Amino acid sequence: METKPTGLAAVLQTDTPQLFEAAVLRACELLRAGQAVALPTETVYGLAANAWDPDAVARIFEIKGRPAQNPIIAHVASLELAKRCSTQWPPLADRLARAFWPGPLTLVLPRAQTIPEILTAGGSTVGIRWPSHPFMQAVIQRCGFPLAAPSANLSNRVSPTNARHVLQQLGHKISLIVDGGQSQVGIESTVLDLSASPPRVLRPGMIQPETLLAVTGELGLGPGPGSDTLKSPGLLRQHYAPRARLILWAWNNDSDLRTLLKERGFNRSKTHIIAHTRIPSALDFGGVCVIPRDAQAFARAIYAQLHECDDAGADLIVVEALPETNEWQALSDRLNRAAAI
Ligand code: TXA
Ligand code: MG
Repeated sequence: METKPTGLAAVLQTDTPQLFEAAVLRACELLRAGQAVALPTETVYGLAANAWDPDAVARIFEIKGRPAQNPIIAHVASLELAKRCSTQWPPLADRLARAFWPGPLTLVLPRAQTIPEILTAGGSTVGIRWPSHPFMQAVIQRCGFPLAAPSANLSNRVSPTNARHVLQQLGHKISLIVDGGQSQVGIESTVLDLSASPPRVLRPGMIQPETLLAVTGELGLGPGPGSDTLKSPGLLRQHYAPRARLILWAWNNDSDLRTLLKERGFNRSKTHIIAHTRIPSALDFGGVCVIPRDAQAFARAIYAQLHECDDAGADLIVVEALPETNEWQALSDRLNRAAAI
């Protein structure tokens, strides 16, 4: 078995068929040897290892500094493999899989014996997802085992949506990062608990409750009354946070923004603004970035912007308050968690 990398991770490109194939081969080689490697998915980049190998899964926890009580999602590339991860495959799982897989939906089902306890954090259920990114699919098909993969960031930090983000956070701890381009969804999958009745959304994502309802008929939101708050640790209030302090704010014009910052004693030159509608014209902020006021485009861009503000040494990130409509709900969820101290 290969030991820990001594230098920086190799970053393999995938933008020609030859490079893609070479990267698949190298990723499979390391995965079969029990290593953890960073791979692209359409939601965010994942830190992947053989889900059937408890030692390989343990390596993921160690690299991320992830609390042992936070379960990891098993990624598959066929219904057959999904069914091997769970002891039950209810008709509803079939309907959801047909509607939303491959894609940004994780289904929580009773854990099969093949899935080691470490992956489910000792719990009786397992999260299963069939990602749509072609590279991830190719690797799972080639290896034949499901891939355990949390987001490829240090625990509690902002998820990576490109290979550079992974390199910055984990480059010294792993030997391979595969560059599959910018993640096209941009935030983590919707987690739906099918072991509850009615099914419950444990983590909102870009597949929204209204869309799920068309398939499930009924739906609960959040971990549910009386249930353990650690049911889905991604629901802990503070999560996904940048280094800089983050606040969500609504303003009408530049002078509002200045007054608000002054009242709170923030230095404008260390303040970065992320706006979608009321664009500040002032040049004395640390940075101003504009993301289109379209939930999908916003999702695709927001994490990269948070990483950029951190890289620029921001003390404060002010994100313009989001619209309150359904399609913005998962984004509000992530940013409110990032804003929690
Ligand atoms: O889009 C995604 O889901 C990405 C990509 C890489 O697939 N993965 C991801 O993994 O976001 P992670 O580990 O950062 O977040 C997984 C979330 C956590 O909130 C975890 O608690 C929850 O899913 N989860 C995993 N297995 C679960 C289970 N059996 N029961 C309840 N929640 C579970
Ligand atoms: Mg994560």
